[in-house]
Amino acid sequence: MAKFPVEPFKIKVVEPIRQTTRDQREEILRRAEYNLFAVRAEDIYIDLMTDSGTSAMSDSQWAGIMVGDESYAGCRNFFNLEDAIRSITGFQYFVPTHQGRAAENVLFTCTVSPGQSVPSNMHFDTTQANVIVRGGDPVNLLAEEGLDPTLHAPFKGDIDVRKLEAFIQQVGPENIPLGMLTVTNNAGGGQPVSMGNIRATSEVLHKYGIPLFLDACRYAENAYFIKMRDPEYMGTPVLEIAREMFSHADGCTMSAKKDALVNIGGFLAMNDEELYRRVCQELIVREGFPTYGGLAGRDLEAVARGLWEGLDEQYLAYRIAHTKYLADRLVEEGIPTLEPPGGHAVYIDVKRFLPHIPQSELSGQALSCALYLEGGIRAIELGSVAFAREDPETGEMIYPELEMVRLAIPRRVYTQAHLDYVAEIFRRIYERRDQIRGMRYTYAPRLLRHFTAHFQPL
Ligand SMILES: Cc1ncc(COP(=O)(O)O)c(C=O)c1O
Repeated sequence: MAKFPVEPFKIKVVEPIRQTTRDQREEILRRAEYNLFAVRAEDIYIDLMTDSGTSAMSDSQWAGIMVGDESYAGCRNFFNLEDAIRSITGFQYFVPTHQGRAAENVLFTCTVSPGQSVPSNMHFDTTQANVIVRGGDPVNLLAEEGLDPTLHAPFKGDIDVRKLEAFIQQVGPENIPLGMLTVTNNAGGGQPVSMGNIRATSEVLHKYGIPLFLDACRYAENAYFIKMRDPEYMGTPVLEIAREMFSHADGCTMSAKKDALVNIGGFLAMNDEELYRRVCQELIVREGFPTYGGLAGRDLEAVARGLWEGLDEQYLAYRIAHTKYLADRLVEEGIPTLEPPGGHAVYIDVKRFLPHIPQSELSGQALSCALYLEGGIRAIELGSVAFAREDPETGEMIYPELEMVRLAIPRRVYTQAHLDYVAEIFRRIYERRDQIRGMRYTYAPRLLRHFTAHFQPL
């Protein structure tokens, strides 16, 4: 075994990236109103904003693009995708969507009425927003362990099952159209959910007649963590672990832009035939006919092939080790990270990195800007900007427990040297961290604020 993760692929196509000067970056940030979403990708050196839709596709996936069948109805690629989804998830019905949030939109439109609640271990931002726009209440019931950034525990994505049952009894099962589990938990550090927790969640929800849906974007990484960290599954193939995870659920939303290694695509799968009929109606209005659902035939083919590649155990071993490599390098430099590292990203614990900046002064956003300024690296704030919510009764801001900056690692894109560069830039910023100042909003929309807000340094 090598001491560092070795890529189980070789590189056939390259895309040049370009370094800018600090003066240029200062001007770029100012023009972008200090929101990194507004910076042109060409002005980024290492882009760790997201692992979503940023994967390098394989030669097989690109070959699949060439056999795209662009018929309006019943294209062959739909059936290839159906085979993959049925075989991996076991769900009876599915519709393709253009990405994960479209699956969420269709699902919640068909299930959530105003005033109802959707409990989860932790909703991601788009899931949270899609429940809110239906007039629903997205409720996060992550187990206590997941909220402690320094604690080393194997499954910090678990939901608190006791809290879940108490919540159901408190609001009444008739007010909960479905429960969800995000695997892995992106908003909480990319932490995995254990098989035992998936099983227990399913049992509690089903006891009250409530279906369980997985937010399954990173189901393969979650399954690999189960294999590595739960002795009961050590000898079980990841595919079987994934199948068992899905077997406890009644459906899933999926952003294929993650573990299916594509640049665009998603799906919504379920067992309930009646729900499937309503979903198809909704899909036709919003996305497209149920055999293409907002995607081209070629995209469906890339997803079908990517789903299988994302389950390859050699690939997954490399993927998780690659992420851990960056986390280890940062820890070597003394950078406070959320531990243990997640599957797709390393999360910086901003409260410990910038203890002099309160959350009300947007410390995570300040750190993201500093990172760009120092090294042209783009990361994303997952803290007060992304998740703070106004208390509907008092109007006061409720800040999230964890203030993080996420370094998401695109799949099969960056090498070890790129990660070493990131660690080096972090070292430089950390040495001068007390010079970093907080930020304030100059514009903030009500929903999904982080995508379009404007800021100014204080
Ligand atoms: C856990 C989780 N759910 C849902 C989504 C939404 O998926 P998409 O970006 O494809 O709409 C994301 C995207 O990052 C995610 O991480």
